[in-house]
Amino acid sequence: MVKTKIGVLASGRGSNLQSIIDACEKKEILAEVAVVISDKKDAFALQRAKKHGIKAFFVDPEKYSSRELHENAIVNILQQNKVELVCLAGYMRLLTGVIIEKFEDRIMNIHPALLPAFPGTHGQKDALDYGVKITGCTVHFVVEQMDAGPIIAQAAVTVLENDTVETLAGRILEQEHKLYPKAIELFAKGKLKITGRNVKIKK
Ligand code: GAR
Repeated sequence: MVKTKIGVLASGRGSNLQSIIDACEKKEILAEVAVVISDKKDAFALQRAKKHGIKAFFVDPEKYSSRELHENAIVNILQQNKVELVCLAGYMRLLTGVIIEKFEDRIMNIHPALLPAFPGTHGQKDALDYGVKITGCTVHFVVEQMDAGPIIAQAAVTVLENDTVETLAGRILEQEHKLYPKAIELFAKGKLKITGRNVKIKK
């Protein structure tokens, strides 16, 4: 069976990247991380990739005069590495049409809240401040609008009375690490069918 080639875009510590690498290495998913790309030179995600013998690139946004040109450089690397699925894992940049057109319906993101609630960069804090009793995480396909694409999978997390942003984020992260590989597995097996806003899982 042919492994699906994944390109991961990450801006930070890369714990979700690690969960994807681990699931691939344990053969829980029929996929391999072909390349990791970051917009941050010091992203720990790049070190994680190198440790596993995965190609790792820092593509410096400062070197490009527009978001589109920066993304074009990223697209070139993804294409050179024959990437079939792009996974955003803590990639803190809004994508432009450049990458979305090239990888239509083949870009996923993980978000630390139950979308459409609490989009943006502080999903856990926003949920806590709002006072919801249940939050969680969402894996969704990426469209140009932030955190707005068709939802693939969600996991719920109960908010506890004494939760801080850190404790809540920690429990959400545990679920993220399980949910993202599962969503990738469904993609790799060709089981995801997008119809408008709905993602159906084929039997
Ligand atoms: C994760 O909690 C992910 O859901 C979140 O950033 C964190 C990255 O952690 N993403 C967003 O907030 C996107 N809007 P990681 O670098 O350890 O995977």
